[in-house]
Amino acid sequence: MIENYEWLKNIEKFNFASKKVLIIGGGEIAKQYALAFLKFHISDITIIVKTGDSISNFCIEKNLKLLKGGFEIHLSNLKKMDLVIIATPIPILINATQLCIDNGQDNILIEKPGSLYSKELLSLSIKTNSFNTRALSLQAVIFNLTHNKESLISLYRYHDLLRVEQISVSERYESIDEFNGELLAFLKNNVKMLSASPNKATTKGTQSRSINAIQDAVMIEMNALIGRAYETAVTGCQNLSNHVFSRGIPKNYKIESWAVNLRSGGFQLPHVHPSGWLSGCYYLKLPDRMGLDSNSPEGWLEFGRPEEKYGITDPLATYAYQPIEGEMVTFPSYFWHRTVPFLSDERRISIAFDIRPI
Ligand SMILES: [Fe+2]
Repeated sequence: MIENYEWLKNIEKFNFASKKVLIIGGGEIAKQYALAFLKFHISDITIIVKTGDSISNFCIEKNLKLLKGGFEIHLSNLKKMDLVIIATPIPILINATQLCIDNGQDNILIEKPGSLYSKELLSLSIKTNSFNTRALSLQAVIFNLTHNKESLISLYRYHDLLRVEQISVSERYESIDEFNGELLAFLKNNVKMLSASPNKATTKGTQSRSINAIQDAVMIEMNALIGRAYETAVTGCQNLSNHVFSRGIPKNYKIESWAVNLRSGGFQLPHVHPSGWLSGCYYLKLPDRMGLDSNSPEGWLEFGRPEEKYGITDPLATYAYQPIEGEMVTFPSYFWHRTVPFLSDERRISIAFDIRPI
């Protein structure tokens, strides 16, 4: 999106010299902001720090006002600024913001809330080149929080990484309907469905334990379909020059699958599948009445919305898939996904699965 920054070429034409800015914090980010403001010919720059040891020389050299002792004692004595940058350590960020507002500042930029998760990411070795489902899911959180849409789209690449296919069954079955009927009967007669435990994402529905190892012809067929989905995803990686998903292709893997049965009002909260490389879902029974389009996507599978605790109400890159009986959808296990609640007397029954590296 280079064209969006064309105006930067003419930055000299803008006159910011009369602006007053305040920076709270004395770390590297605060210095970088100060340097940027100096480039804009802003001379009225005030920096508030607690002790100031690391930034004193910098302020003398650049002729910046430095107030030591912390924002708690200085904010009430300051005039209204054109812009306040809060670049404090995370634990005092909320206090600093509140005091700025209480003292009449109303043009406030809080620097990098995404850094909240930096330690978490580092501990998961995000800096290595390896494929780590949990770390990649957190990377999507960071990209949302820092409005880094370009990186988010590059991580998700829905067009290449999300696959939807109508399955084709072996000659053992005359049709997909016959396969679905046998699979439903198998689930009914052989699989215990359990109410979701409180720590699971499923609400108003039941979920089975692992079903892939049950010796039954219909499960052998299902496992073969999942195995083919793995092969298709691997083949697709040939066109994904060095994408992180390609780097994670497991040479050895096991299938893990389970059944999900949602009733009216049922849904699955946003989640990822931390143990998987590739995840997916096969739809064998759907309510007649589900959402008809993306404006009303009841019962659809929505991607790209992180878990609620991250506070991202308006995710940058979502995609909603309308399930169709007989279709299988696959996606990288690090994709955040959820089902949108639906209302119906009929059940929404699917087989979810992972390809797990071993
Ligand atoms: Fe899932």
